[in-house]
Amino acid sequence: MPALQPTYAPYPFALVSAHGDAVVAEDGRAFTDFYGGHCVCSTGHSHPRVVDAICAQARSLLFYSTAAELPVRTAAADALVRYAGPHIASVFFCNSGAEANENALKLSAQLTGRSRFVAFAGGFHGRTLLALACTDLPKLHAPLRPLLPACEFLPFGDAAALAQADFSEVAAVIVEPIQSMAGVRTADPSWFTALQRKCTDAGTMLVVDEVQTGFGRTGTPFAFHQYDLAPDFVTCAKGIASGFPLGAVLFAAPVAAQIAPGDLGSTFGGGPVASAALLATLEVIEEEGLAARALAAEARIRAGVEGTVVTEVRGAGLLIGLVVGGGHAAALKAHLQAERVLVGASADPEVLRLMPPLNVSDAAIDHLLHAVRSFAPAGAA
Ligand SMILES: Cc1ncc(COP(=O)(O)O)c(C=O)c1O
Repeated sequence: MPALQPTYAPYPFALVSAHGDAVVAEDGRAFTDFYGGHCVCSTGHSHPRVVDAICAQARSLLFYSTAAELPVRTAAADALVRYAGPHIASVFFCNSGAEANENALKLSAQLTGRSRFVAFAGGFHGRTLLALACTDLPKLHAPLRPLLPACEFLPFGDAAALAQADFSEVAAVIVEPIQSMAGVRTADPSWFTALQRKCTDAGTMLVVDEVQTGFGRTGTPFAFHQYDLAPDFVTCAKGIASGFPLGAVLFAAPVAAQIAPGDLGSTFGGGPVASAALLATLEVIEEEGLAARALAAEARIRAGVEGTVVTEVRGAGLLIGLVVGGGHAAALKAHLQAERVLVGASADPEVLRLMPPLNVSDAAIDHLLHAVRSFAPAGAA
């Protein structure tokens, strides 16, 4: 039995280093990284400004909890709230996406006095109890049933199902702007408008899970900026600090005003090194124009896969789903790996996911495109 409990089917090689959009295996082989370590490496692997900020902060103050005010944490909160735009009033720092969602869902129940939730088929929100209850993984729910609150799963993007749903007893609706794990599924802007209106009318909190879509990945600071949405909570993690563990819950002003000291807490959340990493990440994203870069990269990828085995391109910016019909997606993924390109699978066996660093180079994109074009599906003439 390995000492490290197996949790995931890893690559068949160990990684020892990574820079920019490339990762390097133990045997010296370099791979172009279109997976980004689960959509995390927003500014590229080991961006020098992020690394310098982390090292400098670690040397001066490695850790202190919220028992003390830390200028670096205050600066990180100010920068993130400014980055999120005028709808967001304040932030709570935690350590992961699941924890961010757990806190948003818990506060929704506390503030509404309700205990039911609504989520969407195919949605993924994490593995803590409330987040898991709202994640469409029935296999994991079954043994925990008595511990999980009631959560109704509606079809994502379905206007008729939304119109029929009753939110009157619902504490919160949680939604990903783009359902990544489900196969990079998008919904019509009018559906988001209707969802917001229904939540407002019912006094139901809206939690927008931007754990994958945040920090410029879809072309705007957060994906909710592209829709007619005024979320009560926006949850983030993954790309927030370029790979240093950090999660955050962003609050709209009316919610922020109702949270009392003591309602929230986390020993490690928003520690000084994580805060320094967040500050540097935001500076890089803004100064290097990475949201615009994500859109330019998307356009290059969309144009480049035309006429290949890819029959449809889903998503926005650098959260991309390549639809590969005919049962060839797994073979394409294996071919890309043999060609030294890493991509992700999804819950949809026909969809491969691309979520590379936002500063992925044109040369890296061309490497991907060349590898896709050189794929010959088994059985093809
Ligand atoms: C949309 C979304 N929300 C939440 C999570 C949970 O984040 P974490 O693994 O940091 O707990 C994930 C993880 O993949 C995710 O994709």
